[in-house]
Amino acid sequence: MELLPELAGEVTGDPERRGVATLGEFTAGQLRRLCEVAGLGPEDARTYADVLTGALGPEAGRRLDLPPSGRTFLSDDHTPVEYSLAFRPDGPPDLRVLLEPGCGAGTLEENGRAGLEAVHAMSRRWGFATACLDKLEELLLPPSPEGPLALWCALELLPGGVPRVKVYLNPAARGASRAGATLREALERIGHHWAFEGLPEGDGYPFLALDLGGWELPRVKVYVRHSGLPAAAVGELSRMPDGPPAAVLREFAAAAAGTGNADARFSGLPVLSCHAFTDPADDLPSGFTLHVPVRDYVRHDGEALDRAVALLSRHGMDPDPLVRALSAITGRRPQDGVGLIAYLALAHQRGRPPRITAYLSAEAYTVRPPAG
Ligand code: TRP
Repeated sequence: MELLPELAGEVTGDPERRGVATLGEFTAGQLRRLCEVAGLGPEDARTYADVLTGALGPEAGRRLDLPPSGRTFLSDDHTPVEYSLAFRPDGPPDLRVLLEPGCGAGTLEENGRAGLEAVHAMSRRWGFATACLDKLEELLLPPSPEGPLALWCALELLPGGVPRVKVYLNPAARGASRAGATLREALERIGHHWAFEGLPEGDGYPFLALDLGGWELPRVKVYVRHSGLPAAAVGELSRMPDGPPAAVLREFAAAAAGTGNADARFSGLPVLSCHAFTDPADDLPSGFTLHVPVRDYVRHDGEALDRAVALLSRHGMDPDPLVRALSAITGRRPQDGVGLIAYLALAHQRGRPPRITAYLSAEAYTVRPPAG
């Protein structure tokens, strides 16, 4: 059931929709409220809302009562924006926003061009280098690329109004059957000659991500898809030296997806593993993240929220900002839909305490009804 935006606003009693006419206004409002939850001041909130609107380009002005202009795979309802909160044991969560700058383009090739332009505009504004991205442009943004994406970017919204930037590219841009070879070539071009060899087995490489901008240790991240994975096998996915113990990963995945039995499988949307490489001299990754698409393993977001709260508490993180973040995004009750919490992830990076990230849908267009 797809609800029209006005109707969705009424059904869900969402006051944030009143007086909001465009996608840009809608997402800027969500982002301003999320900034408050993440402890960012009003000036940063205003700056970042403008950055988001700017990065969406002409799409920001698209009326919300029109259907989404494309079928972006960034989110289930094709909103080209998704938020995430990265929790830590010792302070407020970091707020990030993922977006598709080229979402309004007619073709995937134009989409990629618009994405590149947006990233270059950011690099001029905040003065960071794009060397890594430039080396991959010809390979991963070819003429007539294949889908499902060309370029996404994510902004980590730090205090002070200058975000850290990440770019997501598609290893299958030259065809799904060549994704492995393309990825290997991409990693070689940016100096990670042996990174590909150590990756765990999977059935696809949905993203290659690059840190650009003011990172202490910029990462290159490879995402691997694991369709139909047995729940027990999740413990073996990390390739990081001194990485997370298998039991920690298994428990996280079981708690997030409700796959408690020893013989359970992830039979819904696949879990993804993400392998972060920082030092080209190092063949093995320095980071590992397990992404669980919780939305496909719950009846409604009330259940997803309970699981997230339990996991955060167990890992010594304050779940309160998550509860407040949901109210910052939507006026609907969690149990009245499913998909607001899209993924729960457990991230390990060498030298840092583990973090849990909750990915939160904007639901600008559709609220998926609870599963029966
Ligand atoms: N919507 C896509 C998916 O579900 C891509 C995506 C968006 C994603 N946010 C994500 C993937 C967070 C992993 C983690 O796969």
